Amino acid sequence: MRAYDIILKKRNGLELSSEEIQFLIDGYVKGTIPDYQMAAFCMAVFFRGLNPGETSVLTRAMADSGDRVDLSEIPGIKVDKHSTGGVGDKTTMIVVPLVACLGVPVAKMSGRGLGHTGGTVDKLESIPGFRTDLPIDEFIQTVKNAGAALIGQTGNLVPADKKIYALRDVTATVDSIPLIASSIMSKKIAAGCDALVLDVKVGSGAFMKNKEEARKLANLMLDIGRAMQIRTAAVLSSANQPLGKGIGNSLEVKEAVETLQGNGPGDLKELCIQLAAQMLLMGKGMKDQKNAVKQVTEALESGAALNKFREIIEAQGGNSAVVEDTTLLPNAELTLQVTSPREGYIQKFDTEKVGLAAACIGAGRSRKEDKIDPSAGIVMHKKIGDTVFRGEPLATLHFNSGAPCEQASDIILDAVQIGRERPASEPLIIDIIS
Ligand code: URA
Repeated sequence: MRAYDIILKKRNGLELSSEEIQFLIDGYVKGTIPDYQMAAFCMAVFFRGLNPGETSVLTRAMADSGDRVDLSEIPGIKVDKHSTGGVGDKTTMIVVPLVACLGVPVAKMSGRGLGHTGGTVDKLESIPGFRTDLPIDEFIQTVKNAGAALIGQTGNLVPADKKIYALRDVTATVDSIPLIASSIMSKKIAAGCDALVLDVKVGSGAFMKNKEEARKLANLMLDIGRAMQIRTAAVLSSANQPLGKGIGNSLEVKEAVETLQGNGPGDLKELCIQLAAQMLLMGKGMKDQKNAVKQVTEALESGAALNKFREIIEAQGGNSAVVEDTTLLPNAELTLQVTSPREGYIQKFDTEKVGLAAACIGAGRSRKEDKIDPSAGIVMHKKIGDTVFRGEPLATLHFNSGAPCEQASDIILDAVQIGRERPASEPLIIDIIS
């Protein structure tokens, strides 16, 4: 078999056999297939696509390219969650304790962020002392004792995705639906979950810019889940504006704590309740969606989920006093208000640009080696449809000396569109597919 023939076949729009896909992944991980051939293959897939069968084979081959985590020691159905990535998305820090306090064990491996803002691991590391590098046996023990644990990717999990994702990132082949689906699902399979809830983002801050594409991605991941015997559900949610108000690592932990205390922004609370309800349905084998939403809402409002977050932080070596006193989180030295240049209604956001503004003052990284400033970020004060007066704050930048705050301020002003007419309201939850 030759990589050349497989690339040619896909370039010409033909279906690949399982053996051909396996050969390509094995050869690329071993180093016998060079980057330029894998890059050509990704571009052929970008234009020609993969059918669901090919995508499942690719996913399995990627999941099998390294180690797999064995969670069988943990009793119960282990439910994982994954977000396709949104600006201000701090749902994991709320949803994980929320379902764990209702008896659903969560062994969550998360990533670091590249581009916009940090990933969940970066956010958690802004809690003083919080260890995200637990070895696997300690990770499993923590889930058994505390009901949940949150760590960074460890061991040799899905080396095929590490290599292919890095290549896609520099060859304009990230936004291919079958490549995204296989990348996400291979990592979830290797992480050992029994069931999975996907938060598929749609809009200006997401890979999927419209509902049709997002639905395609969600359905494809559901198909892969089915093929791998992982019960999977997807929540399609809008990323046409930042989620909640805080963007940036410690600011997002602060907002997650406020939400667990019952004082969070409405959109964040709504999405967390829906995601947690889907996890509860799968983790407990429940059928009644309304009952799941009711149980989750009660656990949030009673403080049970906040107590569970405290327990998880303590179990992972963090200062759990942050759940009572968020001033213990890193605070930036300086703030700057970004004010509205005119009066009107907020029409729309270029959410990706808002994320870039946060990254530019230190909340994200543009290269893997960049260091994140845990205290840097943005607090947004307006949502789509809100009225705004000239000179009224649109956002507050939190940064440390030397950060290019003027540049970030300009990016925000460019990202917010203000007009005379009140825009039609848009739902946050677009669909739930289970
Ligand atoms: N997230 C992933 O893990 N992989 C992709 O390809 C895109 C988003």
